[in-house]
Amino acid sequence: MGLDELNINALPEHIAIIMDGNGRWAQQQGKIRLRGHQAGAEAVRKTVEATAKLGIKHLTLYAFSTENWNRPQTEVNTLMSLLVSSLRRELKRMTKNNIRLSAIGSLDKLPKNVQRELYEVIEKTEKNTGTNLTLALSYGAREEIKQAVVEISQKVKNNIIQVKNIDETIINEHLYTRFLPDVDLLIRTSGEVRISNFLLWQIAYAELYFTEELWPEFDEQSLHRAINSYQKRERRFGKTSEQLL
Ligand code: FPP
Repeated sequence: MGLDELNINALPEHIAIIMDGNGRWAQQQGKIRLRGHQAGAEAVRKTVEATAKLGIKHLTLYAFSTENWNRPQTEVNTLMSLLVSSLRRELKRMTKNNIRLSAIGSLDKLPKNVQRELYEVIEKTEKNTGTNLTLALSYGAREEIKQAVVEISQKVKNNIIQVKNIDETIINEHLYTRFLPDVDLLIRTSGEVRISNFLLWQIAYAELYFTEELWPEFDEQSLHRAINSYQKRERRFGKTSEQLL
C-alpha cells in the first residue's frame, strides 16, 4: 500500500501500539526469544521512522508492562539491555529525524542504568519538534489511574482541588499522559484481541485495529494498512451519522 492510498489530510494525531508476537516470531524461525526481541527492536525503528515520515504527531509504544516483570529474570534482563542499547544507538537517528522521546509508567522501578540512559535521551531530544515518541515502560493503566486518584485525593484533602470541580480535564492532568491527546488509533499485532491494561482511559474513543502480523514483521506497509483502515471508519463519538454531515 503506497502513500497515495492514504488521505494525508485525515491522519490520526495519536497512534498507540501494543507490540506483540516477538516470542512466536522467534519460535517460527527456530530461534531463541532474544532474537525475536532484537527483530522487534528493528521493527520499532522502522515504525517510528514511517510515522515521522507521515508527520504524525504522537506515537506511543507499549514496550514493557507492569505484568512483564513476572517473566523469567533472564528475559527481563534481555529486554532491559536491549532498551539501553537501542536508546544509545538510536539517539543520532532520532535527532536527524526530529523525534522527541518521552516515557510513561512507573519509571522509578526500572534499573538505574536504564533510567539514566532514558533520561539522557529524553533530555537530548526535548527540543525536537517532530513526532513525539512515547515509550510505555513498567506501565499499567490501572496503576496509572490509581495514582491519579491518590494525587487528586491528596489535593482535595489539602484544599487545592474542590470535589465539585473534579472533571475529565482534572483527571487527564493527573495521568502519566497529561502531555498527550487521546489516542485516535490503537494497533495490536499477533492476532490477540485484547487491551492488556494499556491506556484504558485514553482509548475511550480510539479506533481499534488488530492484525495477525507478528511484531517483528510490522513495517511501513503495515502501518499504512492500519491507517487506511482507520480512514475508512466513521468516527461518531456517540452521535448519529446525520449529525456529522
Ligand atoms: C511482545 O512480544 C513484546 C514485548 C514484551 C516487548 C516489546 C519489546 C520490543 C519490541 C523490543 C525492544 C523495544 C524497544 C522500545 C527498543 P512477546 O514476547 O510477548 O511475544 P509472544 O507473545 O509471541 O511470546
